[in-house]
Amino acid sequence: MFLNYGATLTFKFTKQRFLNEEIQSKDKAVFITGCDTGFGNLLAKRLDSKGFHVFATCLFPDGKGALELKESRSQRLHVLHMDVTQDDSVEKALEYVKGNLGSSELWAIVNNAGIVKGFSVEFSSMKDFKDCLDVNTLGPVRVSKAFLPLLKQSKGRIINITSPAGVFPIPFCTPYCTSKYAAVGFNDCFRFEMDIWGIKVISIEPDMFQTGLTDPKVLEEKFDSSLKDLGNSREEEFSEEFIDSVKKTKDFFISFACPQVSLAVDDLESAICSTYPDPTYRPRRHIAFRFALFFYENLPKCCQFFSLKVASYIFLSNPQKKKNL
Ligand SMILES: NC(=O)c1ccc[n+]([C@@H]2O[C@H](COP(=O)([O-])OP(=O)(O)OC[C@H]3O[C@@H](n4cnc5c(N)ncnc54)[C@H](OP(=O)(O)O)[C@@H]3O)[C@@H](O)[C@H]2O)c1
Repeated sequence: MFLNYGATLTFKFTKQRFLNEEIQSKDKAVFITGCDTGFGNLLAKRLDSKGFHVFATCLFPDGKGALELKESRSQRLHVLHMDVTQDDSVEKALEYVKGNLGSSELWAIVNNAGIVKGFSVEFSSMKDFKDCLDVNTLGPVRVSKAFLPLLKQSKGRIINITSPAGVFPIPFCTPYCTSKYAAVGFNDCFRFEMDIWGIKVISIEPDMFQTGLTDPKVLEEKFDSSLKDLGNSREEEFSEEFIDSVKKTKDFFISFACPQVSLAVDDLESAICSTYPDPTYRPRRHIAFRFALFFYENLPKCCQFFSLKVASYIFLSNPQKKKNL
């Protein structure tokens, strides 16, 4: 564990000291998915202000986030519609980019679009699982495949926003975790495959940040609607105490969400602009969460489940089924 920590610190120090050059933004274009809100929206503005040619794709091109981007943009920022779950939508966006690159090269794509749906397996529908996989896992695959020919020309970068939920099991967030674990697998295999083309595949694993994804009100509504979908089985199978503890678990994790969303955007910017980017960035702020993740990842596999049980015993109320079942 300490060897791993020491190696990470040495690597960081060496990079900061000797490998800190930045690429020139002139004649470089970046394509970003899911720019309606959150990281994507902020990143589009940040890169625009740094002189990049930006293609900011939005699920709702007439929505608030897209309009805001259109108002604040320079001539270099294009706002266009794209749904990462639809082949023809991705194809249209690709044609638009090809037609509007001008003298620029496509330097990077940022697979940012993401959704959270469902809670525990029992509180989630199959649709929740399918939707999460479609946006969070197959979306990056679909977009990366479509834009590969342009990236091969520039020897550019593919930046996938994965999540700690792709390396650490977050209880009662199973459809999201499933899709992010798969996204991490895709990222790691793809990095290896793209190396021979000179394309860097970079993973960003942000801590919890206050964006549309972690909005407590929206999550509360989603939770209530999941309970409604359970229908009669709710009362038959789950005690109010159990439901309450699932709610508390959800609220416990959301309470970690950091308001400084720009911290994540700083790392996204580094991944795009550094001449020698890290393979993985982990924008985090909460020392307890940072320690818990580090500890968990470095434990032998056989102890990981036990450590989760201990943590849930200390921090979370224990979900109990109805006694008569
Ligand atoms: N916030 C966090 O704590 C956190 C932590 C780890 C990882 N992440 C990841 O970071 C990425 C960005 O999320 P965020 O936190 O910035 O949340 P966000 O504000 O909800 O941004 C996600 C964006 O993706 C868009 N989107 C949803 N479905 C789409 C589709 N089918 N096609 C295209 N765009 C779609 C959403 O559009 P609408 O808003 O119009 O639906 C939204 O603008 C996600 O991949 C997320 O999993 C976030």
